[in-house]
Amino acid sequence: MDEERQYSPSPGWAQFQDGQEEGQSNLTRICFIIRLKFVHNFLLFVNILARSHALTPAYTSTISIIMDEFQAVEARHLAEEELRDQLDLGSLPQHMAIIMDGNGRWAAQRGLPRIAGHKEGLAALQDVLDVGYELNIPYLTIYAFSQENWNRPESEIRLLMGLLEQYLSKERQRFHDRNVRFLPIGRLEQLPSSVLPLVSEVAEETRHYTTRTLAVALSYGGRAEII
Ligand code: FPP
Repeated sequence: MDEERQYSPSPGWAQFQDGQEEGQSNLTRICFIIRLKFVHNFLLFVNILARSHALTPAYTSTISIIMDEFQAVEARHLAEEELRDQLDLGSLPQHMAIIMDGNGRWAAQRGLPRIAGHKEGLAALQDVLDVGYELNIPYLTIYAFSQENWNRPESEIRLLMGLLEQYLSKERQRFHDRNVRFLPIGRLEQLPSSVLPLVSEVAEETRHYTTRTLAVALSYGGRAEII
């Protein structure tokens, strides 16, 4: 198998080993769960004691709840590991594009304001991007904000631009750590002055990275692309 395309731990791995959990990837979370296994085994032992009536009922139910939590977390991560095992790393796509959609519906179904849906959408996006980086997919494109989106209420646009700003401020260092070129595309001149300088700066300072490219379409439109 091509060395380059082999699954390699992300910088998050090293951060975890340093004891810093912030910024850990899905892979490091999996490893964390494996480390938790010994705690799980200990609880299993205590659970056996509890079941053999050596412990009081209060202990027993608390331990059962903790055990259930552990098993649920493990099941999620084991399923993820199994999925990864099935991946043919030699024939992964070179380019993965994501259209942000459904944030409003997600929020409405839960009786939440639309912006809560956008925040959740952004968190989900970050998880997907992390996996894309870890799998060494060279080109990732996000269709984030279309020209039609300018017709949304001003308050929603302001909040979305705020999310973009927060995202870039937070990810800036990680782009460097992961050799990610941030490539904004679209009618960027239409972006508000509160966010445009940051977008341009991050693009400029990451333009020399060639390993991974994250294109983010801002103020994009199918018609605008043709015309
Ligand atoms: C679609 O949901 C999503 C958007 C219009 C905007 C998504 C953009 C962000 C969260 C800003 C930050 C982006 C990046 C990449 C940093 P919708 O409201 O159209 O949902 P609906 O289809 O359910 O109505």
